[in-house]
Amino acid sequence: MQPLIAGNWKMNGLTAQLDCIETIAAAVRTAPPAAEVLLCLPATLISRGVRAAAGQFRIGGQNCASEVSGPFTGDISAQMLRDAGATAVIVGHSERRQLYDETDVMVAAKAEAAWQAGLVTIICVGETSEQRLEGQTLAVCAAQIDGSVPTGMAASANVVAYEPRWAIGTGRIPTLQEIAQVHAHIRLCLIARLGPAGKTVPILYGGSVTAADAHKILAVPEVGGALVGGASLNAAEFETIFRAAPAST
Ligand code: 13P
Repeated sequence: MQPLIAGNWKMNGLTAQLDCIETIAAAVRTAPPAAEVLLCLPATLISRGVRAAAGQFRIGGQNCASEVSGPFTGDISAQMLRDAGATAVIVGHSERRQLYDETDVMVAAKAEAAWQAGLVTIICVGETSEQRLEGQTLAVCAAQIDGSVPTGMAASANVVAYEPRWAIGTGRIPTLQEIAQVHAHIRLCLIARLGPAGKTVPILYGGSVTAADAHKILAVPEVGGALVGGASLNAAEFETIFRAAPAST
């Protein structure tokens, strides 16, 4: 499978940062990387981001509503993201689960809506530091997969990201053995949930991925790419990360 390197700009990015997208597009045009590149932008930048990316890489959103349209002031539907030029969306990011109390049921409904709208859906799972200390990591991820991945969802529309909450924005990452163990477990959960199609769902690692350690993480078995937060805001660092991905995983 071709690895996927997805950036998540979170609530960062104004018109001035379109330069960064143009720089990444120029780098991809000059020397196409082995990995597929995706940048998940704030909704306000999506259509301009698509123009700045100039067909060199894909643009996604960071969240969507579970409804198609209607009286949901402030919400943005998956169809609207698609209409703006996005081809993918993150759902169930730990910041959404933690700060906005999104449950597995809500995440599954959003994933379903994104899938119906024709978007690739990046469903995030991951344990807190307390759950990790209690030895709950595998059970938490399994329960989140069961609750958040809609049954019958096509593997081609589905990406899962393992993002341990304690590793996000902290500079701390699990050991490579821990990443391998959790990804292998997520693979089994996906096969249990989706049948043989679960074998082909890419499983990204996310949480404090930097240019310095990306190549080691991307070489771990069952790591199909990375979901990169802070480091994706810097074109040069993000480029080092997407060039660190092997040709196939
Ligand atoms: P950082 O790479 O900044 O730790 O963020 C990870 C993340 O949350 C990506 O979705």
